[in-house]
Parts: sequence; C-alpha cells; structure tokens
Amino acid sequence: MSEQLIIQSHRGAYTVHFDDTLLSDPARLLEGEPHFLVDANVARLYASSLHAILHHPNAIVIEATEENKSIERTIPVIERLVQNKVRRDHTLVAIGGGIIQDITCFIASTLLRGLSWRFVPTTLLAQADSCIGSKSSINLGATKNILGTFNPPQNIFIHSGFLETLEDRDIRSGVGEIIKVHAIDGIAAFDRLTSDFDRLFDDRAVLLRYTRAALLIKQRYIEQDEFDRGIRNIFNYGHSFGHAIESAAHYAVPHGIAVAIGMDMANYIAAKRSLLPVEHYHRMHSILRKNYGKYARTPIPLDAMLSALMKDKKNTSTMLRLIFPMGDRAEIQQVQVLPDEIFRSQCAEFFVEING
Ligand SMILES: NC(=O)c1ccc[n+]([C@@H]2O[C@H](COP(=O)([O-])OP(=O)(O)OC[C@H]3O[C@@H](n4cnc5c(N)ncnc54)[C@H](O)[C@@H]3O)[C@@H](O)[C@H]2O)c1
Repeated sequence: MSEQLIIQSHRGAYTVHFDDTLLSDPARLLEGEPHFLVDANVARLYASSLHAILHHPNAIVIEATEENKSIERTIPVIERLVQNKVRRDHTLVAIGGGIIQDITCFIASTLLRGLSWRFVPTTLLAQADSCIGSKSSINLGATKNILGTFNPPQNIFIHSGFLETLEDRDIRSGVGEIIKVHAIDGIAAFDRLTSDFDRLFDDRAVLLRYTRAALLIKQRYIEQDEFDRGIRNIFNYGHSFGHAIESAAHYAVPHGIAVAIGMDMANYIAAKRSLLPVEHYHRMHSILRKNYGKYARTPIPLDAMLSALMKDKKNTSTMLRLIFPMGDRAEIQQVQVLPDEIFRSQCAEFFVEING
C-alpha cells in the first residue's frame, strides 16, 4: 500500500488510500459483511478483476444515471438491501463514480439509522473531488441534489488504473472540478494548473499529482467547515450555474463540465458587474473553454436554466446566492444577486459569447 491521506470529520478520521494494487487484489473489499453497490459500466469493464465482488450474494449493480440518483429510484435499492438481510454491523461498499457514491452515502445515512460505508471511486471527479467531504446529494424528480446528508465513509481506495477506461468527457468532467479547486486556492495555483493543462490528458502521473493536490486543498476547507455553514460555501463556485445548466440540458452535459461552464458564466457576470477585472475572466476563459469544448454548443434553454437556478437550495426567498471571483486577487466569495432583467440579459449574453 502506498500513500495515504487522513481526513478529520465529525465521525473521526477516515483514510484515503492511493492504492494501485486494489484491482489485482480486491480481497480486502470482501472483509466484514459487505453489501456492494457497483456501477454497471464498471461491472462490465472490470468483470474479471472484480469477479469475486460481482458474484457475491450481496452485490447490487446500478446504472449510473441522474434518474437513478433520485429518492424514487433509491427505494428499490433499499428494498434489495433489506431482502439481502442487511444489518447495522454490515458495511456498504460503493464502487463507481459520484452517482454511486451519492446513492450509497445517502442510503448508509438513513437505513437502519446509519450504516458504515467504504468507497472505491472509479471516475476522476470522484477520485479528485467528491470522495472526501462527507456529502450525499439525491435528486427529487427533476430537482437536482435537493436531498442529502453528511456521512463520511470509513475508507476510500483510489486506484488510478480505473481512469484508463473513462471516456474523454468524464476525464474532462473531473478536470472541471480540479480547475475549480485550484481557482479557489488562488491565482498562483490556477496559473500552475494552466501551465500543465495539456499534460493532464496525456500524462497520468501529472493527472495523479493534480488529483492529490485537489484533495489536499479541499481537505483544508472541509476539515474547518464539514457541514458547509461558512467557508466551505465557496466550493459551490460554478455549481449554482452548473446544476441549472445540467438540469436545463436534461443532463446532456456531464457534471464537472457543467461546473466549468458555470465558472465561466460566474466570471463573465462578475466582470460585467465590475466586480472582477475582465483580464481574469479571459485568463480563466481560455482554459475553461478548452475543457468544456463542444459542450458550449449544447442547447441550454435560458428560461429553463433560470428557473432551475431560482430553485437552488442556497438562495434566500428573493435573492440568488452565487459564488463569484472578486477583485484584483479574484478571491472566490459568496454574493447575493437580484434575479432581475439585468441578470437575465447577462446570462443570455454569456451564452451568445460562448456560442459565437
Ligand atoms: N457527494 C458529493 O460530494 C459530490 C460532489 C461532486 C459531484 N457529485 C455528484 O456526482 C455525480 C457525477 O459523478 P461522476 O462525474 O463521477 O459521474 P458518474 O458517477 O455519473 O459516472 C460517469 C460515467 O462514467 C462511468 N464510469 C464510472 N467509472 C468508470 C470507469 N472506471 N471506466 C469507464 N466508465 C466509468 C459511469 O458508468 C457513468 O456512465 C453527479 O451526480 C454530481 O452531482 C457529488
């Protein structure tokens, strides 16, 4: 076993193991009384290495779709676990990306008033960002991530080999979150990432270095504000717009790519409102645009996007709570914005700008 990262949480410490031997020796995942929740694509692609897990009587294979990450579709999974006689001293083991994580973490928070769970993140987004931080988020019908809990896993096992089978869009989705975390860390960290941007896609060692860097940056915030009542809010940078874009595009845009478009949109509007020097919008735009690429042309109906934005759980009853980079140092901060005609036209202009 190689490197470890220890994260403090309200439940005590948990460990992220960077462990590239996991696929050749997955036996440690069978310890205790496990119930596996496995991403269907991972089950198909890793059928042979995960044979013992997939043929375990308590294995449940789930298609990773936003529809399945809803309260309604979680119920049949809970029913299967109950049929499989899950008990309080058993452990749920999630093997997949952010969707399987959210489903497992949510069920682990509520079933039998709480079960322990472990996580094997198989997407870049989950390895570099979502695996730490304790959050579960579940959709209610079309409203994204409106239900949720804070429930850290017992252990996380990161095997970088899983990235080899990811589609380019899912690598870019993870890179979107890595960009976000580095932008939060400051201009110097963002510029460092920019200088290595192209190598993220063709040098796995560079990608792994930025994965670890992203987790270390996030660790500083989640350990201070695990329950997202203060400083951690800035991790929603790109997310209010991003979730609204995902919802308006019926999830045709992967999460981290929608977040990248969302950051670009936040920067554009902040610059239009003279809250941010326009140079910073351009500095980030060139990298963000490169990362979201052809998704800039995905039809995103403005009314549907604005209506989803209005439902964001962070809003007050009259104001949008958005995260903008502010001032010469582009510090990421929360701001309140009136959803008026000016705001609407700035959103519309942004879509014209990126489509042009
Ligand atoms: N709980 C949190 O803290 C948190 C944070 C960020 C995002 N999220 C949520 O995570 C979700 C996005 O997660 P994601 O980007 O990991 O995507 P995902 O779980 O939707 O997976 C993306 C695609 O990759 C496939 N896949 C997974 N592993 C693979 C592998 N190794 N090889 C090939 N294909 C593989 C999946 O089957 C799916 O088709 C969103 O629902 C988002 O809201 C949660």
